[in-house]
Amino acid sequence: MKLTAEERKMYEGKRGKAAQTAMEILVALGEIYGAKNMVPVSSVQVSGVSYHNLGDAGLEFLEEQAKDGKVRVLTTLNPAGMDLDDWKKLGISDDFAQKQLTVISAFAKMGITVSCTCTPYLVGNLPRFNDHIAWGESSAVTFANSVLGARTNREGGPSALAAALTGKTPAYGLHLDENRQAQLHVQVKAKLNSTSDFSALGWALGKKFGNKIPLMTGIKHATIDELKSLSAALPTYGGPSLFHIKGITPNRTKKPKETATITEDDIKEAYKALNEESDIVDFVAIGCPHASINEIKKIASLLEGRHVKAEFWIATARQTKELADRAGYSKIIEASGAKIACDTCMAVAPLKGRFRVMAIDSAKGCYYARGSNGFKTKFGTLEQCIDAAVTGKWNPK
Ligand code: F3S
Repeated sequence: MKLTAEERKMYEGKRGKAAQTAMEILVALGEIYGAKNMVPVSSVQVSGVSYHNLGDAGLEFLEEQAKDGKVRVLTTLNPAGMDLDDWKKLGISDDFAQKQLTVISAFAKMGITVSCTCTPYLVGNLPRFNDHIAWGESSAVTFANSVLGARTNREGGPSALAAALTGKTPAYGLHLDENRQAQLHVQVKAKLNSTSDFSALGWALGKKFGNKIPLMTGIKHATIDELKSLSAALPTYGGPSLFHIKGITPNRTKKPKETATITEDDIKEAYKALNEESDIVDFVAIGCPHASINEIKKIASLLEGRHVKAEFWIATARQTKELADRAGYSKIIEASGAKIACDTCMAVAPLKGRFRVMAIDSAKGCYYARGSNGFKTKFGTLEQCIDAAVTGKWNPK
């Protein structure tokens, strides 16, 4: 790879040990993927923050990098394994909490903003159209590429951290124009009315068309919350980290010759596949990806004057919770017995064995609830999930 003078200094260790390790990681990656050069990044989102996933080996690597490493661009963090201020309310042990706090202080020492959210674009890490960025977290990557028009590959924890410590990433994959073109024209002939419908669309696209970048037509309207749901489901079920929707997303692409359709039946199939046999629900999780203030407002209006029977978590960024506090939504939600879980989510918190059946409006959430925690899943609209929280039962549509 061709390196600039500054990149070479980092590679040779003249900018410290952490920058050297970081540049070695990036050069190795660039060589594997055939990158000719590095590009400067305007921001980084680091995933792999939960101690539950990192373990002691991951923590050791971070502490080593934190000895002399400092980030060179705005860098935010994915959710951790617990609410950093109030882990006890979520039933997290003190032993786990101590390890998690050590992980967070290593990140903070490197100058990383302790945002702990998978929706960095809602809380101040908002790249511009065409910006090169290096983000981990598949839902945020797909949202940034597709909805914002920024450019990022799907980074792992170490490569995202390496980009943060150097301000660079190798130019390959979705950084290059030629890899951002649509490969399949998908006519969407289904009505999509909710975050769960868009999540089901992501499931169907991934299952039917694999990694082909779709250009979708036929979708007349999509809210930011619906687009973030689609961005989470698509890569989780084998789809690409970039989609185009005619009239909605900003990237320009040629119309591919190959065509396909998504019908009402495909969406129904997603709902069927994500719903398992069970009448009871003992855990409800909303906020995958992290809930926006608009979603929290809606949840508060649906919960007002009601009491929940199931454990109910609303995962969100701490900054979004602060807005909800001011608006009075948190008070309404907490009066119902539901919990606003900041900094974390149901997939990265250590929840195995605590619940049997989880209801959620996110196909990505179903994937992790089953795979990581062994829960059965119920998948439906926000309204259905809230009814399940109140009654402890699942009512099909
Ligand atoms: Fe975010 Fe956790 Fe879902 S990281 S996208 S809430 S699985």
